[in-house]
Amino acid sequence: MGRTTLNFSNKTLNGTLEVPGDKSISHRSIMFGALAEGKTVIRHFLKGEDCLSTISCFRKLGVKIEETDEEIIVHGEGWNGLKEPVAILDAGNSGTTTRLLLGILAGRPFHSVLIGDESIAKRPMDRVVVPLSQMGARIAGRENGKYTPLSIQGTNLSAMRYELPVASAQVKSAIIFAGLQAEGDTVIIEPQPTRDHTEKMIAQFGGTIVRNGDEITVTGNQVFKGTDVYVPGDISSAAFFLVAGAIAPNSAITLKNTGLNPTRTGILDVLKQMGANMVIEEEEAVGEEKGTVTIRTSNLSGTEVGGDLIPRLIDEIPIIALLATQAEGTTIIKDAEELKHKETNRIDTVVNELKKLGANIEATPDGMIIHGKTPLSGGSVSSHGDHRIGMMLAVASLVSSGDVILENPEAIAVSYPEFFQDLERLYE
Ligand code: S3P
Repeated sequence: MGRTTLNFSNKTLNGTLEVPGDKSISHRSIMFGALAEGKTVIRHFLKGEDCLSTISCFRKLGVKIEETDEEIIVHGEGWNGLKEPVAILDAGNSGTTTRLLLGILAGRPFHSVLIGDESIAKRPMDRVVVPLSQMGARIAGRENGKYTPLSIQGTNLSAMRYELPVASAQVKSAIIFAGLQAEGDTVIIEPQPTRDHTEKMIAQFGGTIVRNGDEITVTGNQVFKGTDVYVPGDISSAAFFLVAGAIAPNSAITLKNTGLNPTRTGILDVLKQMGANMVIEEEEAVGEEKGTVTIRTSNLSGTEVGGDLIPRLIDEIPIIALLATQAEGTTIIKDAEELKHKETNRIDTVVNELKKLGANIEATPDGMIIHGKTPLSGGSVSSHGDHRIGMMLAVASLVSSGDVILENPEAIAVSYPEFFQDLERLYE
């Protein structure tokens, strides 16, 4: 585990960037490409560790996947193209790989074993295992299937009606994958809308899924056709530069080809609410929405973030907390208990690490309260193995008066291997 010293104090950031492909969409493009019949060509795929874990799992399941600098080519042979793996499937740090694979493997006629890293071993899998079991899935694991390692004996699944107890796109998607293999119609009811990349991709691969209010209906026994996928830039990665541009002095950053799926753009709403100097230009796109966002150094004021906004920015809360330290007044983040179940407990890690840099921030049971505007100092902090905490702390160093020493910066490669190169490209 390494350590890096960040001395970016008072740097001005200027220029244009295209952040790497969206992580959620990249995972799903491999999954649907593998389940489809024929060739799928994926461009602007995110070659971060999480998505490489998904590729490695599908290769172990017998799917041929080629990688070039520009493209990923998946040679799908339909649902039956997946074969019993002789090796253990390792999802690494990726919750999306683990949970979505469970939905796929639950209905395949073979045995498999799924593991992940130390962080995955602490994350709740019962939120997927319980509903899948109600569909007939046979999944075993530590504490009654709550934690990895998990072993899956695929079987015939039956459709069901399921009301999600938490707003989670991963749980929704796992049930959709199971429902796609079941007899009859599976109905899923969401408490709040969550990212809809799985639904969009079903349509793109020639399948059907219907949404009516908060009810999603998926018919079983669907067959998909391979297709071409362009993955837009990940708004969750862009978020670090949007905040950097807003808080660094005399800065202007333009982010091209950024994903603008409305289920993901909560960060843009918050930036607007806080008074950011920002311009969004949407472009014509097939499938996923995308466009260009330009941000300039801004005078920000505190705000409240909660309710239906939370699922639309769940991964951006660490960087929103940093943003709030540089805004005048109080920012309240609430209804975000889900943060406790991410790569780390993100309420605790955000609050503890930002306090080390002098932020005025306190944890609440479902979020945090931040009082600004506070000058940040240097200090010794850690990513705690969480990529988004690592990037947030690197951005914090832009407004810190002294050096920020970051432990375990390697974690950033989970979603953004070129993060530091892209940041350096913007310095003046
Ligand atoms: C994801 C959904 C979200 C998000 C995660 C990726 C996905 O998790 O936090 O980074 O790709 O479906 P939940 O669905 O568990 O909230």
